[in-house]
Amino acid sequence: MKKILFAKPSITKKEIDYVNDAVKNGWGLNCYDYVHRFTDKLKNYFNSPYVWPTSSCHGALHIILMALGIGRNDEVIVPDMTWIGSVTPISWLGATPVFVDVLDDCLSIDPSKIEKAITKKTKAIIVVHPYGNVAKMDEIITIGKKYKIDIIEDAAEAIGSEYKNQKVGSIADFGVISLHGTKTLTSGEGGAIFCKRKDLVEKISIIESQGRKASRRIDFWVDEIGLKYKMSNIQAALGLAQFERADDLIKKKIQIFNWYRKNLESLSDIFLNPKPTWVKNCYWLPTIIFGKSWNFNLDKRNRLLNNLNKKDIAVRPIFYPVSSFSMYQDCPNNIVSQDIYKRGINLPSYFELTENDVKYVVDAIKKELVI
Ligand SMILES: Cc1ncc(COP(=O)(O)O)c(C=O)c1O
Repeated sequence: MKKILFAKPSITKKEIDYVNDAVKNGWGLNCYDYVHRFTDKLKNYFNSPYVWPTSSCHGALHIILMALGIGRNDEVIVPDMTWIGSVTPISWLGATPVFVDVLDDCLSIDPSKIEKAITKKTKAIIVVHPYGNVAKMDEIITIGKKYKIDIIEDAAEAIGSEYKNQKVGSIADFGVISLHGTKTLTSGEGGAIFCKRKDLVEKISIIESQGRKASRRIDFWVDEIGLKYKMSNIQAALGLAQFERADDLIKKKIQIFNWYRKNLESLSDIFLNPKPTWVKNCYWLPTIIFGKSWNFNLDKRNRLLNNLNKKDIAVRPIFYPVSSFSMYQDCPNNIVSQDIYKRGINLPSYFELTENDVKYVVDAIKKELVI
């Protein structure tokens, strides 16, 4: 039986050479060489003026929220259906996440529900681009401007996706990405901060450097409490090699998604990742949402996932509503988030997959659904 993994990076001689070089030579005076090269690469790729690589996306969000002065008594709006990584930095700062429902096509935050969630305490809106799908950025930015609320794009899952020809993560004033090993481009663990607001550059830079001003980095004087989420030179070497291959890596993800779409055509009442004309979807994770006629519930979804996983086909459920976790308050009015996770699955997608592998996965799914 074939083993189909869920995700796996594509590592070539380039990645190995860069990492070997960083391990052998990236110390002493050269200890930030790859970090600087990677920072420049990210600035260029995302067309973003201010960039800091980080050790995780969680850390990148934590730094931005702290730089915005978010703390106790503040509220941050966030989509209910996302990975917990979008939310924990809010909680760590003592602020309250306010969970807003998502749209049932792209699974990103529903702009029409954001305004109702805004209060005097709202300090920021975190917009997630889930599985490579792209959020409705114009509507969200208009709301942010109207209420003078900062927008942070969480593009952890969408490197390479574009909205009206702009890379997601660099459309709003603030953005973040994740470079975790399951992502299309990886540095092992890692992330980055993108910022367009010149007035906050020094603040972010001080927090990112454990509270030191740039002029103070060599004499160890600390001006305020900061954070430590720096990316290492070795991770940056891997990240740089991956971004030098970004176009090929993303092209392959799109090809894999198109193979799924073609092979799943015979299934009616299913919905795959949407791609409106103004969007480039990087299809980080091909996602099937089963329509109501399939009568999915949690048991049926889990049975499908377990049976496929038993056949060594690694499939995953889409995210639970974060509000359903015991640390937060349930949001029964978020009807899409409360319902859709029971009928949504993510499919394997990684560089080495062939069209035959995709057919094999789709055939196994169809068999389980008894088509
Ligand atoms: C939407 C979203 N936000 C944040 C994160 C956190 O990323 P990291 O694991 O790099 O901290 C993830 C993780 O994949 C994510 O999917």
